[in-house]
Order: sequence, then structure tokens, then C-alpha cells
Amino acid sequence: MKKKLLFTGLVVVAVLVIVLLVLPRGQKALPEKIVVGSSADFAPFEYVDEITGELKGFDLDLMRAIGEELGMEVEIKNVAWDGIIPGLLSGNYNVIASGLTITEERQEVVNFTDPYINAGQVIVVRAGDDSITSPADLAGKKVAVQVNTTGDLKATEMMEEEGIAITEIRRFNNAPDAFLELMNGGVEAVVIDLGVAGEQFKATPGIYQMAGEPFTVEEYGFALRKSDTELLEKINAALVSLRSKGVYDEIYERYFGN
Ligand code: ARG
Repeated sequence: MKKKLLFTGLVVVAVLVIVLLVLPRGQKALPEKIVVGSSADFAPFEYVDEITGELKGFDLDLMRAIGEELGMEVEIKNVAWDGIIPGLLSGNYNVIASGLTITEERQEVVNFTDPYINAGQVIVVRAGDDSITSPADLAGKKVAVQVNTTGDLKATEMMEEEGIAITEIRRFNNAPDAFLELMNGGVEAVVIDLGVAGEQFKATPGIYQMAGEPFTVEEYGFALRKSDTELLEKINAALVSLRSKGVYDEIYERYFGN
């Protein structure tokens, strides 16, 4: 009898030990729904439809499709660009979908999904201004950027490391404000993502032009907290199947087709 009790006790302890060892290693459970943080000032990737007030854009439709693919609800929060990563880290949302370029610096604090689209920085000037055709021509000029974007980073690098004597970098909280500053003559150039420049040309024809070719190669990824490894894997898998089902192309056409 005593032996039997001892044996039962040992089994219970063994099971407990196994459970305790295995559980913490298991991945963090999936959240109930995908809450997305996006700075909707970046058409055609994320923006507010002026008429309906709806949140639209390539990134957001792609996230919605990912949610459908995973059978998870998607809620999108329109948040300020500056501080979008701290907002993720403090738990205000669990995914950033905001034209966010994958950079090494950001990879130190967040995980990125596989890249979902290519991008690059371009210089935009006022229509008819042919004095700027490459980054070197920004010497002696004022430049507008969205604060803490890769455009800001690049312009700052040119000025501080590459010896291009940019007179001043004006940093704006919203991307459209940088374009307004250019239109109003406050600066001579904007450094911004190619896709957003292209959309601006469509929206306000005859006001701006592109100066030269894109001068960086970048990729956008969705960003998650480092601890959310299971959701990361799920989103990556969903991206693969949305591409193979043609849903990705459909969304791409919606925003980049002619
Ligand atoms: N791709 C650039 C970056 O990651 C700009 C992104 C700006 N996004 C936005 N929704 N305003 O820095």
C-alpha cells in the first residue's frame, strides 16, 4: 500500500515537473483579435477616405485579408506616426501596419514579418524645378521629411555623414504636411517613399515632380512585439497563402493598378 502511494506521488511529481518545464517554452498564445496600429497619413498604404471616413489602403486591406485567412477579427486604430513603435511595445495594439521599412535598428526592438512590398526613397520637388536631380543637388537647399522616417534618416545621413550641405531639414509629424511645405515654398524638396510620392502626383497633378530615381531600396514589413512569435508565424503563413490564392495581387491592383 505504502509503495503504491509512493509510486502515485512520484508520478504526480513527474507530471508536474514536465508540465512546468514544457509550458513556459511553449509559444505565447494567440491574441483574441488582431489590433492594428497604423498612421493613416500615407496614401496609398494607409489613409482616411475623405468622404466615408473609412480607413483604407494597401497595408490595411492586406491586414484585413490576413485576418480573414486566419479566422481572426481585425481592429484598426489610427495612431500618430511618431511613437508608433513605443505604442506597440506598450500593448496598445499587437501589429503595426504603417508602411514601416524593415531596418536593422528597428529589428532590435520589434520582429518584422516577411517583407510584403518593396519601396525606396525619392526626392520630390516643385513642378518645373530642374535644379535638383540627385541627392548631391540638395546642397544649399531646405528639405522636408516626416519625422523619424527612413526619409528623415537618409536626409540626416546625407547632411551629417555624406557631406551634402543641406541647409535645413524640416521635420513634420504628418507626411502630407511635408508636401504642403514644399508647395508653399518653405522648402525646395521632400524626401519620401516612392509609392506615396506617386499617389501625391495623382492627387495634385502639375504641382510636383520627381527628381531623379529612387536612391534607396527598402522593404516594408508588419511589426510585432518580440514575444508574439506565434502570431508572427501565422501572419507569415497567411501572406504566403494570400499570394498563392491571388488575393495579394487583387489588393495590389486595387491601389497600384492604373
Ligand atoms: N517607410 C518609411 C519608414 O518606415 C515611412 C513610413 C511612414 N508611414 C506612415 N504611415 N506615415 O520610416
